[in-house]
Amino acid sequence: MNITYHEKNRVFKLDTERTSYCIGIVDEENFVGHIYYGRKLSDDNLGYLMRTGEPPFVPSENNRDRTSFLDSFPMEYTGNNLGDYRESTLSVRTAGGHTGVSLSYVAHHIYDGKPALEGLPATFGDRTECKTLELVCEDKILGLQVLLSYSIFADNDAIARSVRVVNQSGEPVYLTKVLSACIDMDNDEYEMITLHGSWARERMIQTRPVALGKQSVSSVRGESSHQEHPFMAWKQKHTTEEAGDIYGMHFVYSGNFLAQIEAGQFGTIRAVMGIHPENFCWKLEPGESFQAPEVICVYSSEGIGGMTRNLHDLYRNHLIRGEYKDKKRPILINNWEATYFDFNTEKLLDIARQASRLGIEMLVMDDGWFGERNDDNTSLGDWQVNESKLRGGLKYLVDEVNKLGMKFGIWFEPEMISPDSRLYREHPDWAIAIPGRTGSLARNQYVLDLTRKEVRDYVYDMVAAVLHSANIEYVKWDMNRQLSDIGSYGLPADRQGELLHRQVLALYEMQDRLTREFPGLLLENCSGGGARFDPGMLYYSPQIWCSDDTDAVERLSIQAGTAMIYPLSSMGAHVSDCPNHTVGRTTPFETRGYVALAGTFGYELDVTKIPEADRARIPDQVAMYHQYHDLVCQGDYYRIAHYADNHFYDCYEVVAKDKSEALITYIQVLNRPNYHSRRIRIPGLAPDKTYVIANIQDWPEIRQTEYRGDTLHYAGLNIPPLWGDFQGRLMHLKALS
Ligand code: DGJ
Repeated sequence: MNITYHEKNRVFKLDTERTSYCIGIVDEENFVGHIYYGRKLSDDNLGYLMRTGEPPFVPSENNRDRTSFLDSFPMEYTGNNLGDYRESTLSVRTAGGHTGVSLSYVAHHIYDGKPALEGLPATFGDRTECKTLELVCEDKILGLQVLLSYSIFADNDAIARSVRVVNQSGEPVYLTKVLSACIDMDNDEYEMITLHGSWARERMIQTRPVALGKQSVSSVRGESSHQEHPFMAWKQKHTTEEAGDIYGMHFVYSGNFLAQIEAGQFGTIRAVMGIHPENFCWKLEPGESFQAPEVICVYSSEGIGGMTRNLHDLYRNHLIRGEYKDKKRPILINNWEATYFDFNTEKLLDIARQASRLGIEMLVMDDGWFGERNDDNTSLGDWQVNESKLRGGLKYLVDEVNKLGMKFGIWFEPEMISPDSRLYREHPDWAIAIPGRTGSLARNQYVLDLTRKEVRDYVYDMVAAVLHSANIEYVKWDMNRQLSDIGSYGLPADRQGELLHRQVLALYEMQDRLTREFPGLLLENCSGGGARFDPGMLYYSPQIWCSDDTDAVERLSIQAGTAMIYPLSSMGAHVSDCPNHTVGRTTPFETRGYVALAGTFGYELDVTKIPEADRARIPDQVAMYHQYHDLVCQGDYYRIAHYADNHFYDCYEVVAKDKSEALITYIQVLNRPNYHSRRIRIPGLAPDKTYVIANIQDWPEIRQTEYRGDTLHYAGLNIPPLWGDFQGRLMHLKALS
C-alpha cells in the first residue's frame, strides 16, 4: 500500500495490492479531478489522462464556456448550481437563502493510520495497516472547508472514503445534501448490480444495463430497508463470477441513502453514494463540522467473486469488532417460531432441557416477555419483566438455563413505543410525530424520538437494568417498523431536517454504549428480519438476522444476495420447522441444516414438538457446525451456481485461506426426470494440489476420490442427480500434503 503525490503534475496516486486510484489537481482554480480507478499501475505520472487540453478546456483558457467545462470534467466531489448539471454531492443554502458551491483544492495530508469517524461506524486499522490521504478543499465565498478523506489498507484492496464539512464562516449555513463519495469515469457499457427485496425476501440480486440518465436505489424509510440496499456495483457485460472488471460502492450507514449511477451525454458515468437528501437539512453553526458517513469503494478484475472476497475480508478484519469478532458463536435456539407470544417459564425450560441434551448451546427468549405483551399490539417501551408469564422472575429462568450448561439471550426492540404502553401514556411526546397530525402506525407502534437525550437515556437504562439483573449473554436488538411522520418535539423548527440522521446517530450511540458496558455480550441486530442488514450495524454487532423467511429454498436466494457482500459469519441463519411458517414448504431437515450452515447457525423451532426423526438429526447437525465452523467463517467464498438464475440447483463453496480444504454445498432444489449428472467446476483450489473427498461415504455414486485442484477448477466434477426435490449434500475436499 502506498500513497504518493507527484508534485510537478499535481497527481495523487493511491496503490493497494492490486488496484490504483488517481486524482489530479488542475487549472488555476485547483479543481479536484478524477483520473483513474482500476488495476494497479506502475506509472505514477497519469496527469496526461486529465481532459484539460481538449475542448471545452479549463476555465483559465476558455472561461466563456465555463459551464461546459464544469458539466463534463470528471470531478472527485462536486458542488452545485454553478454549471455542473450532473448529480451534485454537496448542496447548501446560506443564511441569505442562496445556493451554489464550488470546491478548490487547498492542501493535503498523507499519513499512516486511519482516523475514527466521530459518532459513526467506520472501517478501522492501525498505523501499520492503513494509510490516509486527506484533501483539504474550500469554497472561499461560503467560508466552507470540505475534507475529502481516502484510506487504504495493507491487506485489502478497498478504499474507504468520507467527507467532512466545516463551517469557517461567521454565519450559519444549511447543508441540504452531503453525499459521501463520487466516482466519475468513462462508460464501458456497464451493467449495474443492486440488491432489492421486501419483508421475507431481502437482498435479491438484480442486474440491469446502465442506461443514459439516472438509475438508483435508495431508502427514505429511516433505515437501510428490506426494499433496497446501500450497495451498488457496475461491471462490464462480459464480467462473470470469476473474471472481468467490477466496481462497487457500499455505504457504512443504517439510515436513508442514495446510490446512483448517471450515464451522461459525453459517454461518462457518475456514481454517487450518501445520505439521501430528501427530508435532510443540517444547520451548521460557525465553527461546527458535519461528518458524512463512510463509503467503501472496491474494484476487482477477478469478477463478482473477487469483489465479494475483498469485502468479506475487509469486514471480517476491519469492521466487525468485539469479543465475538473471531470467536465461535454459540448454537442458539430461539423461541419465536416455536411459541410466538404464547410462552412461560416452564415452556421455555422444556425447550432448553431438550435442546441442551442435543448439544444446543444457548436459549434466546424472543418477543413477549415484558409489560403486558401477549400479542404485537402493546407494551413496547415497558421493559419490565412480565412475571405472570415468567413466574419466579427472569433471574430464576436464566439460572435454570445456565444450570443446563446453556447460555441465555433476550430480545428487545428499544427504538419503539406502543400507544398502549405505560411509557406512551406518560410521555406521548416521546414518539416521532408531526404536531397536529395523527401519526401513521405500523405494527401498531410508533418510533421513539431518540434524538432527545432524555429519551435514549431512559430507554437505555431500562435495557441495561434488565441485562444487569441476570446472566444474559446475548441480545437480539430488533426494529420492526420504518419511520414516517418525521417530526420531533425536541428540535427547533430550523433543525427538524436533522431528525433522520440524528436518529441514526442516536442508535449508534446507544449500541456503542451497550457494547462498552457489556463487552462480553453477543449482540445480534435485526429489523423485521433483515431490513437493517448493513455495514453500519455490523460495526456494532458481529451478526445480523438475515430474514424472517427461514425456508431453506427461499434462503438460498436471500443468502446468496447477502453473501455477495457480507461474510458468512455475519448472517443469522436458523433451522426451522416445516411446513415453513412463511411459505408453507416442507424441505428435508438435513437440507435446512446445510443451508443454515452458511450463516451463524441455530434453531428456530419447538424442539419438544418436532418429529422424533428430525430431533434425532440435531446432534449430527451440531457436530457438522463444530467441524466446519472455522472453514465457513474464515474461508474464501465462491458462488458456483445460483438457484435464482437456473431455477434447479444452487452450489457454493468455501475454501480455506491456505487451500488445505474446501466445503462445497450443493442443493438440488428441483429434480428433473431422465436427466444425467451435472458438471460443476470448483474454483479457488490450489491447482497443483491433490484433493480427496474426505466424506466420500456421503457420495456413494462417486467412485473416484482423488482429484487435482486445476482439474476440479477447469474440468470439474459430475454431481449425480439426487432423488427428490430440495435435496442437499456437502462435499468436504481435503488436500493431501
Ligand atoms: C421480527 C424478527 O425478525 C423476528 O425474528 C421476531 O423477533 C419478531 N420480530 C418479534 O416480534
